[in-house]
Amino acid sequence: MRQIQINIKNALGAVTEADINGLDASAANALDKLHTGSGAGNDFLGWLDLPSRTPAGLIDDIQATAVSLRNDCEAVVAIGIGGSYLGAKAVIEALSDSFAAYRNGNGNPQVLFAGQNIGEDYLYELQSYLKGKKFGIIVISKSGTTTEPAIAFRLLKEQLESQLGKAEASKRIVAITDAKRGALRQLATEEGYKTFVIEDSVGGRFSVLSPVGLLPIAVAGYDIKALVQGAADMENATKCHSADNIAEVYAKTRNALYNAGKKIEILVNYNPKLHYFGEWWKQLYGESEGKDHKGIFPAAVDNSTDLHSMGQWIQDGERTIFETVLSVETQEHEVVIPSDEANLDGLNYIAGKRVDEVNKMAELGTRIAHVDGGVPNLRITIPALKEEYLGQLIYFFEKACGISGYILGVNPFNQPGVEDYKRNMFALLAKPGYEKETESIKSRIEG
Ligand code: PA5
Repeated sequence: MRQIQINIKNALGAVTEADINGLDASAANALDKLHTGSGAGNDFLGWLDLPSRTPAGLIDDIQATAVSLRNDCEAVVAIGIGGSYLGAKAVIEALSDSFAAYRNGNGNPQVLFAGQNIGEDYLYELQSYLKGKKFGIIVISKSGTTTEPAIAFRLLKEQLESQLGKAEASKRIVAITDAKRGALRQLATEEGYKTFVIEDSVGGRFSVLSPVGLLPIAVAGYDIKALVQGAADMENATKCHSADNIAEVYAKTRNALYNAGKKIEILVNYNPKLHYFGEWWKQLYGESEGKDHKGIFPAAVDNSTDLHSMGQWIQDGERTIFETVLSVETQEHEVVIPSDEANLDGLNYIAGKRVDEVNKMAELGTRIAHVDGGVPNLRITIPALKEEYLGQLIYFFEKACGISGYILGVNPFNQPGVEDYKRNMFALLAKPGYEKETESIKSRIEG
């Protein structure tokens, strides 16, 4: 089996092997806590063996639902926010033709996203785009009560019903939510929507390999069996404590760097298709580790694009940063730089080379410059942007996140800080049940 790999040798310098090995016992302990369920947040460990225990029947059901949406719809809107959208968006973008949106008739419905913001113009423009179109909706909310997706769903449901009638519309709506609780579950039951369950023990940011991610990915036309199989392979490869367990290696190295004053980690890609992978990763690590006034700040850049914007800071700014580079070994297509007789642009020195060779030299040149400039470099190689490797990568980051959070000494599976803005927003909007908070916040803003 080809597998993603990690190389940490360019982090040595900022930290020593002894610093990293010094965290070996903590990593073993963290792994043990995960596998025995004896650590903080142990009621949210359902993701740990999700790939290997996903029943074939569930995958078949997701695929059949996807086929029916694909047959009936030109566009399918996946409604969700945070963990209920980022994983699907990341995988679909990584696997898609960059210009799919501009190509007609490629056989795949467009997968659009909503409920991940409260942008009035965004929603207006989406509704106007969908006017008269055959569209479907996948509404995803574990709690079933999140405001952003609830607003988007109310709007699009009304539009779909007015375009098709209630009965037809309900055949094109799929809800993914809690088995019993929440407004969305109640609505789905009353309206007779097809539903999938998000298990209690699978938190939002760990849910991409559940129906939350798998259904939109299948609707986009990708092989969810291969994605889950890749993740299951990584589940198997990261089970036991060892010096070769790549999830432990990553978790130990980033914690050693953090202890040495490297407070910011950037996830770097050299392939624009991985932009949303960086967004997914930021949520996974930010929400899991940023608590108790601790935690590496996760950021992401798209290179070489961002070498022309963030490159200066990374090379030369405050030395509190390290980078983890996602390097894709093989491209799907070949583009060769042509020779030009006049050579007015001076590029003939690279004529005949593949674009990817130039990109790899940009990556290598940047790595050497960053390491020389005091930016430790971790490198994750991915054989190709294919479902099985993305499955491996997703599970690798999830597993490493659990280990890393426990090494850091936080509960990686809660997100208490996310509630604060909601409380204020509800108070400002005078939501029933928030009368006291409304009074108190009004006196602050009016006073
Ligand atoms: O990781 C998380 O738990 C969050 O990002 C949630 O996924 C996000 O807030 C959406 O929640 P819900 O699926 O309940 O609508």
